[in-house]
Amino acid sequence: MQERPVIVALDAPSFEAARDLADRLDPALCRVKVGKELFTAAGPALVDYLVRRGHSVFLDLKYHDIPNTVAAACRVAAGLGVWMVDVHASGGPAMLEAAREALESAGAGRPKLIAITVLTSLSEPDLERVGLVGPVPQAVLRLARLAHECGLDGVVSSAAEARLLRAALPRPFLLVTPGIRLPGAAKDDQVRIVTPESAIADGADFLVIGRPITQSADPLRTLAEINHSLSTLKQT
Ligand code: C5P
Repeated sequence: MQERPVIVALDAPSFEAARDLADRLDPALCRVKVGKELFTAAGPALVDYLVRRGHSVFLDLKYHDIPNTVAAACRVAAGLGVWMVDVHASGGPAMLEAAREALESAGAGRPKLIAITVLTSLSEPDLERVGLVGPVPQAVLRLARLAHECGLDGVVSSAAEARLLRAALPRPFLLVTPGIRLPGAAKDDQVRIVTPESAIADGADFLVIGRPITQSADPLRTLAEINHSLSTLKQT
C-alpha cells in the first residue's frame, strides 16, 4: 500500500474556494488534485500555494499535443514542484517518451508521469466514431501497455478496469482510480463506482476522491475515516 493513497480532487471554481478547501485538509493525510477547471481559473499561483503548504499535487491537465510541446509543459510542471502529472496515451509513443525524458531531467524528486487510456465517458460506438479499435477493455489495455513500454509510471484506471490492468501490469506500475464512493453514499454522476477498500483490493495504488470528501460537512474527518478503513487492509 502506498503512503497517503487518497488524492482529494479539488474541483473548485476559484483560487479562494480551492484554498479554503485545501486549508481544511492535512497534507500528512492525503494528496490533492488540480484539474482543468481550477487550473484555468487559478493557474500556477494556486499550485505554488498548495506546494508551499506541503501538499503533494497531482496536476491533472491530461496533456495531448506534439512531443515537443508536451515535453515543454512537463518541464514547467516539474518546475512548479508537483508530485504527479498526466498525459493522454493516445498521443503516441514519441509524445510519451518525450514527456518521460523531460521529467527525468528534473532529477530524483521528479513528478510521476501517468497516462489516460480511454476516457470513461466514451462508449463502444464512440470508440468506433473516433477510429479506436475496441472493445473498450482491449483499447484500455492496449494504451496502458503502450504507456508501460514507454516507461511511464502508471495509468488512470476506472474501477471497472483495475483488475484487468493489474493482472497484466504488475507493480510498481501505478493505477490511479477515480469513481470512488463511500459505502451507502450517493453516486452523483459517477456511473460505475466502488468503495475505497474494494478499489485497493482490485489493485489500485491511489484513489481520486472528490465530492465524498469535499462536500462532506467535515472533510478532514471523512478523510480520516477513509484512511482508517484502508489501514486495516494495510496489515493484510
Ligand atoms: O467528485 P468525484 O469523486 O466524482 O470526483 C472525481 C474526480 O476524478 C474528478 O476530478 C473527475 O474529473 C475525476 N475523474 C473521474 N472519472 C474519470 C477520470 C477522472 O471522475 N474517469
